[in-house]
Amino acid sequence: MDVLLVGSGAREHALAWKLRQSPLLGRLYCAPGNAGIAAVAECVAIGAEDLDGLVEFARTARVDFVLVGPEAPLVGGLADRMAAAGILALGPGADAAQLEGSKGFVKDLCRSHNIPTAAYERFRAPTPAKAYAAQLGYPVVIKADGLAAGKGVVIAANAAEADAAIEAMFDGAFGAAGQQIVVEEFLDGEELSFFVLSDGRQALFLGAAQDHKRVGDGDVGPNTGGMGAYSPTPLITPKLQDEIMGLIVHPTIAAMAAAGTPYRGVLFAGLMLTDEGPKLIEFNCRFGDPECQVLMLRLTSDLLPALVAAARGDLKGMTLKWSPEVALTVVMAAKGYPGAYAKGTVIRGLDRQGGLPDALVFHAATSKDGDQLVANGGRVLSVSARGKSVHEAQARAYAAVDRIDWPQGFCRRDIGWRAVARERVRD
Ligand code: AMP
Ligand code: GLY
Repeated sequence: MDVLLVGSGAREHALAWKLRQSPLLGRLYCAPGNAGIAAVAECVAIGAEDLDGLVEFARTARVDFVLVGPEAPLVGGLADRMAAAGILALGPGADAAQLEGSKGFVKDLCRSHNIPTAAYERFRAPTPAKAYAAQLGYPVVIKADGLAAGKGVVIAANAAEADAAIEAMFDGAFGAAGQQIVVEEFLDGEELSFFVLSDGRQALFLGAAQDHKRVGDGDVGPNTGGMGAYSPTPLITPKLQDEIMGLIVHPTIAAMAAAGTPYRGVLFAGLMLTDEGPKLIEFNCRFGDPECQVLMLRLTSDLLPALVAAARGDLKGMTLKWSPEVALTVVMAAKGYPGAYAKGTVIRGLDRQGGLPDALVFHAATSKDGDQLVANGGRVLSVSARGKSVHEAQARAYAAVDRIDWPQGFCRRDIGWRAVARERVRD
């Protein structure tokens, strides 16, 4: 089977690495890919948001299956475009991708199907939004409705911060994404990333992970796309997993099917585990990055048949096997990220990785400058390892990080800290 994978991050590198192991795989193309992905796939220079270019390539290369990594092309309708061209693709159509594309859409769906989530209202003007924020009390959460590359969420500690965020969004701080906003209750608890694969009717659990969104050790500083993750997390018991499937995932899949917009693809539920039980923070219509890296490291079954079955609408009877080991990944980013950072800095030492057991380096944003490997984005590498415990996986990942010679890069040194602390108590 010839496959086209769309995207260029460490998530896509992990997917390409896993697909490469499939005996069913023929050629693997990645658009646009990166210097790391080039070792396992044929990179083609078509941007992930160039829908015309992607459909044209898929047609002329006669690919059998398309897997879409990031959300923007899905929200833009890439899966619909592939279907119209007669090409099998996994990922929701534009209507179903509204689960990520519009925060207000998801909140309304939760309200009409009794899915637990934070109390909220939607607004098109600042004055009533400020009044509702005051009514909820502080901290309060202000969200731009549309896609804002993970930056459209403000947790406001007081009225001044809330009012300023509301004004900024309506003044166009997030462009069209902020013309509508959601004001919602602040949820207190631990966050969990929960993944399923759906064929439109059924949902197969793929695993849960914890991400570290803040840039600094101890979870301080600005939010990022994610600085590291591990899976499984000790937070998820079989009982909690069933509860999340029953209260959140199955009602969503059923509601989307009933609305005539069945959800086919990977569904990522961002959850808060509160004293009152799990509550939905948001849905994403794709794998998480860096969560995907740790899920792929734990998956022992072939990924390709499951993805193809979901795209064909027939997951019935499909099962996937997962290693009981823990996988952990540490993101290395360019100094300055998530603010301004330099591009083009040279990374050395990656060729020394080979001798380390279970350590793998997925590339997030790299390119080649002659023989040299250079960084060309904010999150640049995702250094990943397995172990019998979070502690062991963490030690292996950081041993690999320490062999990488990249003075202009940095990483958090505490990925997995909550789980490591829990292991200490248990031991
Ligand atoms: P989102 O883009 O909706 O995932 O929001 C980004 C991050 O903001 C989430 O991962 C949470 O850490 C935080 N967040 C969003 N909504 C809430 C909420 N209602 N209560 C507390 N934290 C939230
Ligand atoms: N790591 C969070 C995300 O992919 O949205």
